Amino acid sequence: MMILKTPDELAVMDRANALLHETLRIVVEAAKPGVSTWELDRLAEDHIRAHGGVPAFKGYRGYPATLCTSVNDVIVHGIPSKTQLLRAGDIVGVDGGVVLDGFVGDAAVTVGIGEVAPEAARLMQVTKRCLELAVEFVRPGQRLTDIGEVIQSHAEAAGFSVVRELVGHGIGRAMHEDPQVFNYGPGGRGPELRPGLVLAIEPMINAGKAGVSFDDDGWTARTEDGKLSAHFEYSVAVTENGPWVLGVGGR
Ligand code: MF3
Ligand code: CO
Repeated sequence: MMILKTPDELAVMDRANALLHETLRIVVEAAKPGVSTWELDRLAEDHIRAHGGVPAFKGYRGYPATLCTSVNDVIVHGIPSKTQLLRAGDIVGVDGGVVLDGFVGDAAVTVGIGEVAPEAARLMQVTKRCLELAVEFVRPGQRLTDIGEVIQSHAEAAGFSVVRELVGHGIGRAMHEDPQVFNYGPGGRGPELRPGLVLAIEPMINAGKAGVSFDDDGWTARTEDGKLSAHFEYSVAVTENGPWVLGVGGR
């Protein structure tokens, strides 16, 4: 069942996502060679709590941290660790969730550490562009799978592949609400989008093949072929006037 939010509720979700985006900026600023992914997690949790928020991931199905820090071939859900130090040339996905006044914000970015290989930079750029293109389809009357179609076509035109096993989602009082948001087409299917629906759109794009393998920790999802993967995520509301990317200062 899809849950539509009122304008007042969307305003709360905008604030939750604004705190999250501010947190991600702090984390990205601190992500330098020699810094551990655990230190990034501390920074994030401290900032979220200092501003009246609660980390949304911590304790979710037993997840142990505030952030997911997904380095290189890790697609998503990498667990921060004191022994994992970032190195120049790495790419790291930083995914966070914030609960504020009863609503959840969910967003992610992927950043390079120091100078990265041209192909790694291109992967990040294309994945971010997939998300930006997808946002344009978050409009009343648009069909749900139009989002996945544009993500897939942009990723594959660049020679990359779309992860199938993991998807985006509706979001609100719960982190995961209906519907599932696939990152592949065909378009023109699924429910029509309606004002008040909020979608967490999160393309996960692999440099090589689409296959995923899961570590024994039950969380870490990595590319089967060991090649790089990138991930960007926004929480986006459908409004009468089109897409509202929550927490980034628009509308
Ligand atoms: N953005 C991810 C998701 O929507 C992050 C969840 S990590 C978890 O599923 F640990 F909270 F599951
Ligand atoms: Co999400």
